Amino acid sequence: MPAIAAWAPGKIILFGEHAVVYHRPAIAVPVSDVQARAVILPNPLGQSGSVQIDAPDIGLNALLSELPPENPLATSILAVQEQLGLSSLPAFKIRITSTIPIAAGLGSGAAISAAIARAVSNFLGHPLSDSQVSDIAYRVDQYYHGTPSGIDNTVIAHNRPVYFVRGQPFQTLRVAQPFTLVIGNSGLPSPTGTVVGDLRARYEADPESYEPVFNHIGAIADQARGVIEQGDPFDLGPLLTANHAFLHQLGVSCPELNRLVTAALAAGALGAKLSGGGRGGNMIALAEPELAEDVSAALREAGAVHTITTVVQATP
Ligand code: MEV
Repeated sequence: MPAIAAWAPGKIILFGEHAVVYHRPAIAVPVSDVQARAVILPNPLGQSGSVQIDAPDIGLNALLSELPPENPLATSILAVQEQLGLSSLPAFKIRITSTIPIAAGLGSGAAISAAIARAVSNFLGHPLSDSQVSDIAYRVDQYYHGTPSGIDNTVIAHNRPVYFVRGQPFQTLRVAQPFTLVIGNSGLPSPTGTVVGDLRARYEADPESYEPVFNHIGAIADQARGVIEQGDPFDLGPLLTANHAFLHQLGVSCPELNRLVTAALAAGALGAKLSGGGRGGNMIALAEPELAEDVSAALREAGAVHTITTVVQATP
């Protein structure tokens, strides 16, 4: 039996992180420059239920039965079994690798779950739909942080730009003209669950101070949607920078991310902001294609441990 492979992209949030948890709109795009991958090697002579998980990136090599059910890799596999109504799994080995930096706001957890769900369901002969894959990645994300909005699993499982409002069906975003982004990794882990929980506590103590900021961020996301679908992508620059200022006001940025944003703007970026959970992880900068290398070099000089230049392609 041949090996079966599946993959899922990373993601970046262009507009609206954190406010999206409070039902304001947000925009995210997949980033295929980094990917999670799951490869299944069938083991027809193995004992039924013998599932070996090999995840060299995190130094894990164990049987599914040895892992606690809340382990995210185990949860992803068991969720497929449950979804397909199977009482047991045939023997197989699954090798999971990823080039998506962990805890960096690029959706590593959701992408790994999506790749596993796809590979396992394909192997079992019942490929899950993108929505089913998204639901499984959402369930796993709940372990990472209690109240995910659902945007990460949605953009990753559907692998297309999305306009997302929590609790509503997502909308695919049409990208009228391509634009170039430089992603800069601060090198600090972004503890999304902690940052979301901390903001929740501050919000609950003083909702009147936070509601207007969420409204501003939501309005920016709506304006950005119009630009992406019909306008000149250069006009996204000031919207990105304004969004960053509001995220800073929410207390989810940090000196390292602020320094990267400032450095990107000084190097000629049209706009820049943190992306994802914040307090570490990644920021993004919109750059004219011919300036992307300058922006990238400026980010590395300002402390970025890694940069990725990616093009958000126009959609047909
Ligand atoms: C994390 O990628 C985005 C946040 O808005 C959390 C969420 O939407 O669940 C910070």
